[in-house]
Amino acid sequence: METLSALLYLVASVCFIMALRGLSSPETSRQGNLYGMVGMTIAILTTLALPIVQSYWMIVLGIAIGGGIGYVIAKKIEMTALPQLVAAFHSLVGLAAVFVALSAFYSPEAYGIGVPGAIAKGSLVEMALGTAIGAITFTGSIVAFAKLQGLVTGKPLVFPFQHHLNAALGVLTILLILWLVQSNSSAALWLIVGVSLALGFLLILPIGGADMPVVISMLNSYSGWAAAGIGFTLQNNLLIITGALVGSSGAILSYIMCKGMNRSIFNVILGGFGGESAAAAAGRAGGGERGQVKAGSPEDAAYIMKNAQSVIIVPGYGMAVAQAQHALREMADLLKKEGVDVKYAIHPVAGRMPGHMNVLLAEANVPYDEVFELEDINRDFGTADVAFVIGANDVTNPAAKTDPASPIYGMPILDVEKAKTVFFIKRGMAAGYAGVENELFFRPNTMMLFGDAKKVTEEVVKSME
Ligand code: TAP
Repeated sequence: METLSALLYLVASVCFIMALRGLSSPETSRQGNLYGMVGMTIAILTTLALPIVQSYWMIVLGIAIGGGIGYVIAKKIEMTALPQLVAAFHSLVGLAAVFVALSAFYSPEAYGIGVPGAIAKGSLVEMALGTAIGAITFTGSIVAFAKLQGLVTGKPLVFPFQHHLNAALGVLTILLILWLVQSNSSAALWLIVGVSLALGFLLILPIGGADMPVVISMLNSYSGWAAAGIGFTLQNNLLIITGALVGSSGAILSYIMCKGMNRSIFNVILGGFGGESAAAAAGRAGGGERGQVKAGSPEDAAYIMKNAQSVIIVPGYGMAVAQAQHALREMADLLKKEGVDVKYAIHPVAGRMPGHMNVLLAEANVPYDEVFELEDINRDFGTADVAFVIGANDVTNPAAKTDPASPIYGMPILDVEKAKTVFFIKRGMAAGYAGVENELFFRPNTMMLFGDAKKVTEEVVKSME
């Protein structure tokens, strides 16, 4: 039985690796999801068949309650609320890690790691690490959820000596772990829980809303490592492998997002982004010399685009909010019928989560070969007749290139202003996520199409027909 379960766990691990591989490109993402589901089914069934499982009713009850709640949430959730949902789910992984470690501490015989008061030192280290990472993930994810849901301000909350305090708590946690390993003391374990809960809270508090997606991906990584820690405690190889996969892929994703914003991970973790500097930059941009805002109608846009040779569509967060992707696809189809060359330009951090735009365009069946990454399309704006910017803002803002004081300075941007005409569909003059005004709205070759992205696009389609 042991060999068979090890073999099945290996198959499940391979499925998870294939799932990650598949999810790395829109063309193969469905297949990737399928691998993930097959792997998880094998993992769950194999675990349930292990001889250590002595009773099923508690497990079935847990799956029914958890699965039921998960099903309802998954059905109801808006695409734009996914980041906070992911944060909420991560908090539960963290909490589970803490519970498993506590139960292993109080019933070590059940886990085969010793007897109360004399637990193997190696197991105590695993337990302590799992507890610390789990507790940090738990409170950190709750703060991230509250910020994204608008329950607390998305602004960075900073106070004097914050980083010193966090560093001191980090050192204290290490000392407590050493004490636990030396003494088997339950007080040490509970203190690790308390200090780590506080640390998770304090670490995420100073991070501004604009950096939350990076933080969520980082917490995703922590939750993976916490799960790997549980795997060591439970002596379950699959959990160790899966935890490590989640941990490392979350870390890589955080790195990719930071690169997309041209920020270092330390800059994100140390926080403060999107606070005073953004407000100052917004104020500065607002006070400077600028041209007139030119507002156009959907009919104007339809006429200009029908007579264009090439149109590049730049989707952003507003397209996701308005769910305008289907109308957009209809518009692109009509343009193609007229012989217009249509392409989509995707910025790596457009929207609020990695691949946000790709997922929405795929949902509307936009052909993959019309969708281009920033580095592959940026040169084409110079020869394009129209840049059709729908609900995007920061990812087109030239302040990223010209204003060293801007919070988005250094972020690569889509050079939409190089197109002959630039349309911006948005509801008003509001800034994007980073809180910085976009000077392109005042340029002579820009025409603003004010309104909800879906409504305006539908009206453009109507005018074209
Ligand atoms: P944003 O700069 O946030 O701009 C979105 C614009 O959409 C807003 O200015 C808003 O203007 C408009 N909008 C909102 N709802 C709309 C609706 N229903 N119809 C029409 N327009 C609507 O978005 P972006 O250009 O996609 O940039 C993404 C930002 O998120 C960047 O700052 C990026 O650094 C940050 N971020 C993203 C990620 C990932 S992984 N994607 C990670 C970290 C940070 P109105 O209110 O005037 O309509």
